[in-house]
Amino acid sequence: MNKKTIDYTEYAGKILEALPKGILLTTKAGTKTNSMVIGWGTLGTNWGRPVFAVYVRESRFTRQLLDENPAFTINVPLDDIDPRVLSICGSRSGRDMDKLEAAGLTPVAPSVINVPGLKELPITLECRVIYRQPQELPLLDKEIAGRYYPPVSDGQGGETYDTHVTYYGEIVAAYVIEE
Ligand SMILES: Cc1cc2nc3c(=O)[nH]c(=O)nc-3n(C[C@H](O)[C@H](O)[C@H](O)COP(=O)(O)O)c2cc1C
Repeated sequence: MNKKTIDYTEYAGKILEALPKGILLTTKAGTKTNSMVIGWGTLGTNWGRPVFAVYVRESRFTRQLLDENPAFTINVPLDDIDPRVLSICGSRSGRDMDKLEAAGLTPVAPSVINVPGLKELPITLECRVIYRQPQELPLLDKEIAGRYYPPVSDGQGGETYDTHVTYYGEIVAAYVIEE
């Protein structure tokens, strides 16, 4: 499979347009590879490096995999995302199933990090996590905090908040996977 190297800035418009409709964040730890849908993300520059930052709730299996292996790929479709991929990767957890197999996604060997890209969502950013930042709810705008972070059960009779962790991924390779 060929990889056409790209300047990620030339694809920024396409990536940011696809993002709110759902793109994939792929992670891998040990033998487990998992993709989840993300609708939030930030493409920009931090510490003088090209960065894609993702926002992952504490409860996600992806959060566990990212903490075990701090690297990820961003996978963007050329056209609209397949509704089946959106449904499986956006509502089921990799804790319970092999989502790549269920969604018909084909891993493609990476170039720099140790997390694969996906043939079916060929625009690929390989990212190495350079900073992770758990959210501090008291610092967040109150209206947003109330809307996105209602109290949830902590499973032990108490309450907690399923906040996001921001993972800042330095973009270390960018390409389009071609047949
Ligand atoms: C359109 C869409 C956008 C989403 N965006 C995010 C996101 O940015 N961050 C997040 O933590 N979950 C997001 N989700 C939810 C996860 O994709 C979903 O909970 C997934 O099943 C988690 O998979 P995992 O447990 O295998 O990590 C989104 C879901 C959809 C359908």
